[in-house]
Amino acid sequence: MAAPTIVIKDIHKTFGDQEVLKGMSFVVQPGKVNFLIGRSGEGKTVALKLLTGLLGPDAGEIWYDDLELSQAETKDLYDLRLRIGLLFQDGALFDSLSVGENVAFPLWFHRKAKAKVTRAKAEGLLTDLGLADAYDRPVTSLSTGERKRVALARALIVEPEILFFDEPTTGLDPLLSAQVDGLISQAQERSGATVLVISHDIAATLTLADQVSMLYDGRIIASSTPDELRANPSPEVRKFLAGATD
Ligand SMILES: Nc1ncnc2c1ncn2[C@@H]1O[C@H](COP(=O)(O)OP(=O)(O)O)[C@@H](O)[C@H]1O
Ligand SMILES: [Mg+2]
Repeated sequence: MAAPTIVIKDIHKTFGDQEVLKGMSFVVQPGKVNFLIGRSGEGKTVALKLLTGLLGPDAGEIWYDDLELSQAETKDLYDLRLRIGLLFQDGALFDSLSVGENVAFPLWFHRKAKAKVTRAKAEGLLTDLGLADAYDRPVTSLSTGERKRVALARALIVEPEILFFDEPTTGLDPLLSAQVDGLISQAQERSGATVLVISHDIAATLTLADQVSMLYDGRIIASSTPDELRANPSPEVRKFLAGATD
């Protein structure tokens, strides 16, 4: 199956008395680099959890081509998960596994792949990401930047048609950020995947994105190309682009 179009329709999500999403709608363009931006605490990570089925919405629909998540059979959801590579905000590595075991984990888990093939593949990806010979290192020995790259390798190893990255460069120095940004573009170009990056890094967003959607007060207030976003007259958009991220 090719990279899907993901359509998010009128999603509502409340926690306790906090209404986080109040009718969020946007389209994630197939085979493109899409960004979801917004201030800290707006609900971007919640949106990603809804998109990946880790959370259910109170109302609204999430479509992957002609599959709607809340209506989908367990088997369809499982098949969809196999097509998704996910990079969590904090990397979420397993500290009890080695670097290489972390990277290979999705292959063992989903595909029951042969150990030798799996190791070769993980080593290849680690080498691509500047971590040759890191396979047997303990995860606890990694720097922040290395953790990000290992988490990225783990997201890429299933060669997913859909890639979700939650703040892939937050907490990295500018050099490493640029490196991770480059890897995201490369991964997209190589695989033609549908990519959604959550970010509050404005410079990266405007450089890398084909399409940018901005979440503000529970709704998407702009969804356009970076150039159109730059010309958007909305005060909220202007303020965000000017760097007022919190
Ligand atoms: N499981 C949860 N239970 C209660 N509140 C939550 C939960 N997940 C997120 N929230 C709240 O939803 C809001 C949006 O969070 P989040 O999606 O993490 O923001 P961000 O845009 O920074 O990623 C925050 O106020 C957060 O505290
Ligand atoms: Mg977040």
